[in-house]
Amino acid sequence: MKKLQILMFGAPGAGKGTQAKILSSERHIPHISTGDILREAVSKKTELGLKAKAIMEAGELVPDEIMGGIIRDVLFSDKCKPGYILDGFPRTINQANILDGILKEIDEGYPIVIELDADDELIINRLSSRRVCSECGYIVNLNSLEDPTTCPNCGAKNSFIKRKDDEEDVIKNRLNVYHQTTKPVLDFYRNKAKIISIDAALPVEEVAKKITVELN
Ligand code: AP5
Repeated sequence: MKKLQILMFGAPGAGKGTQAKILSSERHIPHISTGDILREAVSKKTELGLKAKAIMEAGELVPDEIMGGIIRDVLFSDKCKPGYILDGFPRTINQANILDGILKEIDEGYPIVIELDADDELIINRLSSRRVCSECGYIVNLNSLEDPTTCPNCGAKNSFIKRKDDEEDVIKNRLNVYHQTTKPVLDFYRNKAKIISIDAALPVEEVAKKITVELN
């Protein structure tokens, strides 16, 4: 079977992580989220985490050289041999060029880009009501829970926490950074890679179904 290389693209909160997890379990390929890698480093207080913490809490971007090094190590690792889903990288044109260089070294072509398209109002609504279960890491939207005190995945009570970068002023800054610095990366891939654009306002299952149809 052909190696599947996917790049999930879209604004913060468009649903990249949600869809990447579904695709990862369907296709048995790893979900590589640079945000998750950085958050783990922050919680473990590693050297990387200490550098990244304040940058992430302000909704700014961690420097390209650091991110390039992280992605290089992951893409050269054995776990990415069957394929991978990149979520949150590249976020700058410079990062896209770094990824190009790595893929040439591995002798791989361009990934398929899945763009989740959402307007800013939807993003602000979604991220303001996003919570993460502190017990199992499950991500929810408080507005869609029947019981907003209980994790539907592990049953933990009152375990939901809000990401520091999901405060409204930081969400707005993340959106600015997205429009100014990250959105142009999509143009970088036009005429180079297959780009699949999907309306991110659709329900989770419908977005997932459209992705499956487009990939088959
Ligand atoms: P990162 O973790 O990548 O954050 P992000 O891109 O801002 O993405 P999010 O995780 O906020 O959203 P998502 O699109 O994954 O949406 P989700 O599925 O969770 O990065 C965090 C920070 O790390 C950055 O700001 C930066 O500082 C740093 N960083 C990371 N990578 C970097 C890089 N390459 N370079 C430099 N710095 C980097 O869904 C959101 C919510 O909506 C959830 O509540 C979910 O349940 C709900 N939802 C999802 N889909 C739907 C749907 N279809 N309908 C209804 N609700 C939905």
